[in-house]
Amino acid sequence: MFNEEMRSEQPIRWAMVGGGRGSQIGYAHRSSATRDGHFTLVAGAFDIDAERCRDFGTNLGLNPERCYADYQTMFAEEAKREDGIQAVSIATPNSTHYAISKAALESGLHVVCEKPVTFTVAEAEDLKRIAQEHGRIFGVMYGYTGFQMVHQAREMIQRGDIGKVRVISMQFAHGFHSEEVEKDNPGAKWRMNPEVSGPTYVLGDIGTHAFYMAQLMTGLDVERLCCTRQSFIASRAPLEDNAHVMMQFSNGAVGTLWASGVNAGSMHQQKIRIVGEKASIEWWDERPNQLSFEVQGEPARVLERGMGYLHNDDSAVSSDRIGGGHAEGFFESWANLYSRFGTVMKAANRDDQATVAATWFPGIDAGIEGVRLLERCVESADNDAQWVKYYE
Ligand code: NAI
Repeated sequence: MFNEEMRSEQPIRWAMVGGGRGSQIGYAHRSSATRDGHFTLVAGAFDIDAERCRDFGTNLGLNPERCYADYQTMFAEEAKREDGIQAVSIATPNSTHYAISKAALESGLHVVCEKPVTFTVAEAEDLKRIAQEHGRIFGVMYGYTGFQMVHQAREMIQRGDIGKVRVISMQFAHGFHSEEVEKDNPGAKWRMNPEVSGPTYVLGDIGTHAFYMAQLMTGLDVERLCCTRQSFIASRAPLEDNAHVMMQFSNGAVGTLWASGVNAGSMHQQKIRIVGEKASIEWWDERPNQLSFEVQGEPARVLERGMGYLHNDDSAVSSDRIGGGHAEGFFESWANLYSRFGTVMKAANRDDQATVAATWFPGIDAGIEGVRLLERCVESADNDAQWVKYYE
């Protein structure tokens, strides 16, 4: 059970850049970060519009002085205060992640940044270097990886319950952008603009989630991949609203990734299926409390969150907030991640490197691999789906 008895240290004084009024993902950050008392929201540069930021921030109960017109002013002004911010979450459109993250780290702040973390691998590696130099934590919001059954899958695969991994099927394919919704939707519009979205649309927006999930579960490295991508809504070109990737992994396993915004009728279809020599495991984000375990020649089993038969590792069980049978969901997954971010940030503050090293959380390496995937996919797709090496 989730540890309600955990030692309650002072919450981390926390701010957000982006995530303002009407944004898609701002509320998820605020509700999850504050859930377990690790963080308290004290400041923000929530919005591209200064007036709206102030109005929004004061509605949230913040001191109007601490609702800033831009992130540069916020980092500078907060650094002057004794009670200034210690960490920041960045939930702005993709093009801004690198500059804001860099400025935050250089101001001595811990960072949680949205994915895709940067436009290029070089930028993401630069952030890793700066975070190390400043001794700061860099978390990346792969929000689905806080689900307990994802960690149960990881544990089962690592223990050999399915045998050697042969096939990895990754997909995140929704139907919400089957039509040109971006005409009336600013949150969709920037995603189709390469200057703001980056070199990809669906691959970066949702493909990175499924890819990281598979990396986390299997621990395998990609060796080569080939990618084909399309813009079924022509005005989205050069960015894709559908993509297929084939991959070869280091242990001889093969995989496919389908990322799509035009899977008409589908809600999410984020499904990860790992096929081993003797059994398969499948996890689906629309039924996150269950894990399908299918042993060849036996009836399929559905494992349920919160049950004693799960591997008793730190993530699969101790993150439970309520017993099995009750539906935990998206916000619990995010809160589990923020609980880990809080744990490692506090550990870093007291220079407890052992705790930082022992605590799993999606960090900058996960961010780098997501961006590497995008770079390689574009390279392949732009060369008629040629096979390309994953690492240069
Ligand atoms: P959105 O367009 O709905 O909201 C963006 C917010 O950022 C708005 O409040 C806007 O005013 C603000 N903003 C823009 N530029 C800013 C700047 N320079 N300074 C301060 N505020 C600024 O975007 P959405 O959908 O919330 O996405 C934001 C980020 O979160 C993206 O990188 C996206 O890929 C990621 N995302 C991640 C999800 C996940 O599951 N981890 C889910 C949805 C989005």
